Amino acid sequence: MTRVLLFGRNGQVGGELARLFAQQAHAAKAVGTAVPPAWEVIALDRAACDLSDPDAVRAAIVRAKPQVVVNAAAWTAVDRAETEPDACHRVNADAPAAMASAALDAGALLVHYSTDYVFDGSARRPYREDDPVGPLGAYGRSKLEGEQAIAASGCAAIVLRTSWVYGLTGQNFLRTMLRLAGEREELGVVDDQQGSPTWSRSLARATLQLLDRHACDPASWAGVSGLYHATASGSTTWFGFASAIFEQAPGLARRPRLRPLATADYPLPAPRPAWSVLDCSRLQQRFSISLPGWREALSECLAAGAPNS
Ligand SMILES: NC(=O)c1ccc[n+]([C@@H]2O[C@H](COP(=O)([O-])OP(=O)(O)OC[C@H]3O[C@@H](n4cnc5c(N)ncnc54)[C@H](OP(=O)(O)O)[C@@H]3O)[C@@H](O)[C@H]2O)c1
Repeated sequence: MTRVLLFGRNGQVGGELARLFAQQAHAAKAVGTAVPPAWEVIALDRAACDLSDPDAVRAAIVRAKPQVVVNAAAWTAVDRAETEPDACHRVNADAPAAMASAALDAGALLVHYSTDYVFDGSARRPYREDDPVGPLGAYGRSKLEGEQAIAASGCAAIVLRTSWVYGLTGQNFLRTMLRLAGEREELGVVDDQQGSPTWSRSLARATLQLLDRHACDPASWAGVSGLYHATASGSTTWFGFASAIFEQAPGLARRPRLRPLATADYPLPAPRPAWSVLDCSRLQQRFSISLPGWREALSECLAAGAPNS
């Protein structure tokens, strides 16, 4: 039985992880045997552990004595981070630092998520893990400092950089588009930022695949520790993503006319990278794991539920 401590159980990725862990436990029960590896998951939300408090983070790990810590919690309010950088830093940099140090003491493997926003977006080919970073805003800086603190801690850690996360719950572009479809005849959407929309469930599945293989084998942790890019394959713009949503979403009463916008036409407090595409070949080469194409994942996501319900 592998004990997993999950932070961020109510987030897009954390919620999918909690669901997948529960499904595996249920499947194991249904066959009446403990299908290895069997998980014991302690899933925490903000009320159970506030990541603004590093002592609370450390205490949660000491109390749970996990073999694996998964951090799916983060400050993801990219624009608000510009006016509240210290609060954002506490959650995205100080908390992962505390997790890494406590995971090292507990002999646990840490799995953590980071972001395409660590890059400045000036590249014109998919970013590799060792490409120079240069975050444009406070959120990206805080996430980068989280990555660096984990790397400096010396704990066994897999850090997955992902991008443009959406899903059936939470605040995300898919849900915003579906809501606006009911309200607007016409919608302007940014068409000069390129990235890979990533379904939270695809990322959670990839994480479970990693854990299935390595959680029970501490001898493998040193060899697999490191930074990996983990996004859907293929890329598009926000305009392209919106077009695909309106093409594929079933049962929309109306589909707004889409108008391409330049980033300059839609000013936001935090600057966004113009190019966010990540090269995920390291994940593929080292683990034979790749996430599905963004269009395919979007279809599956739309078929899986009524996102506005
Ligand atoms: N969303 C994206 O587009 C995107 C893109 C690239 C990378 N990422 C990274 O992917 C990971 C997962 O993101 P996500 O989209 O699943 O995020 P999300 O849906 O915004 O969920 C984040 C979770 O963190 C929790 N949280 C925030 N502040 C907290 C605090 N002080 N104490 C405890 N919990 C706190 C939130 O709790 P509440 O529910 O109580 O607010 C929420 O459940 C994060 O590391 C994020 O940086 C996300």
